[in-house]
Amino acid sequence: MKVVSIVGARPQFIKLGPLSRLLRESFEEIIIHTGQHYDHEMSDLFFDQLEIPKPDINLGVGSGLQGAQTGDMLEKIENKLMSIEPGLVLTFGDTNSTLAACLASSKLQFPTLHIEAGLRSFNKTMPEEINRVVADHTSDLLFAPTKEAVRNLENEGLTEKAVLTGDIMVDSVEFVQSKIDNHNANENPYALLTMHRPYNVDNPENLKNLFRSLKELSTSIIFPVHPRTRNILNSNNIDVPDNIELIEPQGYIEFQKLLRSCSRVITDSGGLQKEAFITGKPCITLRPETEWVETVEAGWNLLADLSDPNLADKIKSFNPEEERPDLYGKNVAEVMVAEIKKFISQS
Ligand code: UD1
Ligand code: UDP
Repeated sequence: MKVVSIVGARPQFIKLGPLSRLLRESFEEIIIHTGQHYDHEMSDLFFDQLEIPKPDINLGVGSGLQGAQTGDMLEKIENKLMSIEPGLVLTFGDTNSTLAACLASSKLQFPTLHIEAGLRSFNKTMPEEINRVVADHTSDLLFAPTKEAVRNLENEGLTEKAVLTGDIMVDSVEFVQSKIDNHNANENPYALLTMHRPYNVDNPENLKNLFRSLKELSTSIIFPVHPRTRNILNSNNIDVPDNIELIEPQGYIEFQKLLRSCSRVITDSGGLQKEAFITGKPCITLRPETEWVETVEAGWNLLADLSDPNLADKIKSFNPEEERPDLYGKNVAEVMVAEIKKFISQS
């Protein structure tokens, strides 16, 4: 049976890696890359490092406004799916590539699976929140990473389609573990910073506020800069304090090494909040809310506003010591492939 996996952005490649490997043992997998992310260090590098076969199809959609980008993907995905006639279409996360994939596939009535279903920020100003709600309501099978995600799906009447599988990123982190086991820990303490959410970075004043606060931290900060953020920094001539080292977006292996050696994480990324929890790093999330509420409840994730005048103190004094419960499962790709087989046999 043909299974089509549709991806397009960095976090989706990371989620695809471990699942694709196992899926190929039982199915003919065809990978469609929408082309939403296209720089080598945002795309090809992840296929190489996570040992994912090169995409069979790259739609080359590239960057654009929300509607234009999604519309272009929708048309091109529809076209490809009509000629492939898959038995199942896999979609991941909450990007515009997810939205286009779910819309195209469900309207063609191909069985559609949404991985990382049930997450909610309840903040519709985020494009991702709109994408996830549509993805969940158009898909036939919903793999929820957490109990909270299952509850959200139940609240929206989607109980029958939902399966609690755990979070596939547990397997991604595990996969690179052996590749970083022998790395020399960086001896100088530093915090690891990533930022790319439009509401944080598109207004240069927000970045200036953040840098002002981070300057007060005595520790050094390593900041792999997302291309969206790099564009804003460059076009607004924003001064970067001496304790912040800007570097290029990192490959998954290099980034996981940076994560293992850092003292804490400061971020607005979804995936990184989980990885910080999994690896036992205190995480300060620069957002008013998070979809990964269980990390906050467990005491390892602190929500903070980047314009908070006490941000530096909050970051410094956040030193969780609570035990970390197992929130995201184990061998998740195995669980997912077993559930996919069950779904196909019952269809
Ligand atoms: C997208 C997702 C977001 C996800 C993030 C992961 C949507 C709506 N947003 O945000 O959910 O968290 O990816 O990183 O789908 N650019 C480059 N090179 C690239 C890719 C992007 O220079 O390879 C620049 C372009 O100027 C582009 C901007 O980054 O306009 C934003 O890219 P886009 O894919 O639209 O959104 P992200 O902010 O990356
Ligand atoms: N990541 C990476 N290199 C970097 C920054 C992040 O490999 O320079 C990884 C990180 O480990 C996490 C994922 O990218 O797994 C998060 O992606 P991103 O923050 O782009 O998107 P989000 O998770 O917020 O949707």
